[in-house]
Amino acid sequence: MGKLRALTSRVLTRLGRMPSRVEMARPYVVSVDSPAELDGLVAVVTGGSGAIGRAISLRLALSGAEVYVLGRSTTKLDAVVSEIREHGGSAHIAQVELEEETAVTRFFASLPTVDILVNCAGGSARGEHAPVWDQSPEVIDRILAINLRAAISCVRAVTPKMIAQQSGRIISVGSVIGGRGKARFADYAAAKAGLSGYLKSAAIELGPFGITVNVVSPGIVPRGQPTQAELERLKRTNVLGDIGHEEDVAEAVGFLASPRARFITGQELAVDGGRSLGLRGDD
Ligand SMILES: NC(=O)c1ccc[n+]([C@@H]2O[C@H](COP(=O)([O-])OP(=O)(O)OC[C@H]3O[C@@H](n4cnc5c(N)ncnc54)[C@H](OP(=O)(O)O)[C@@H]3O)[C@@H](O)[C@H]2O)c1
Repeated sequence: MGKLRALTSRVLTRLGRMPSRVEMARPYVVSVDSPAELDGLVAVVTGGSGAIGRAISLRLALSGAEVYVLGRSTTKLDAVVSEIREHGGSAHIAQVELEEETAVTRFFASLPTVDILVNCAGGSARGEHAPVWDQSPEVIDRILAINLRAAISCVRAVTPKMIAQQSGRIISVGSVIGGRGKARFADYAAAKAGLSGYLKSAAIELGPFGITVNVVSPGIVPRGQPTQAELERLKRTNVLGDIGHEEDVAEAVGFLASPRARFITGQELAVDGGRSLGLRGDD
């Protein structure tokens, strides 16, 4: 009730009316304990127009951050930015091709300040999973580029600003597959494991400048509209016997972006219902 009241007062302030909850495409409630804790901060969420990135963008915006929602499709970006604004938050479209280094550099140079970077763009090969001996070089390059190289480009471009500010939060969305491995996902696992290694090294370099660097690794977050049979199977893939949702990941990112996490760096937080305690049931 305290949480809901906090959210209500936040939206009340911004919209001048009192909704009982914020409706999403799949309806859920975004609860914000400290609605103003990111006030005045600028956040960039890559992949902000995707399933998990949308929840993260909304979560940060409802905590007061001005959010740049980054992706490629203007239709998807527009939908998320409109949704945030409808709920009284501040958001902008950032249409950037992350595989183009110059586009990334140009985008970050155009921002006066960046306090929070969330590297969420990415994903596995989905319809193109294959065993290691059969995977095409094109798919391997694409998976490494968007899950690993793009995040490195963003960190490289944003850190001079954060160093000048002597503060910053970098949070990347990994995957428990990076640490555990999974058959037919070797390229994706390599990219996510590489991301963890890169960010832990970056945490050591950036700590003296007041910049924290952490990874949030989801288990399985169902995409689209899974059938009841698929949902039952997904429940068996973790020890809590439940389904992981976008907002579960967003909650962890929101915490790591907040002043409450000021002394946490170089860590990887699994948000997976205990799936990484022993991968099972997801063949
Ligand atoms: N869903 C899961 O079960 C799960 C589990 C573990 C980890 N993860 C990780 O969570 C993150 C988000 O996953 P998701 O399921 O939310 O994916 P998603 O819905 O497919 O979203 C992917 C996002 O990345 C953007 N993107 C992709 N390629 C890009 C490029 N070259 N340049 C700029 N933007 C690009 C997309 O924008 P456009 O659509 O405009 O291209 C979109 O906003 C990924 O890093 C994924 O590996 C997901």
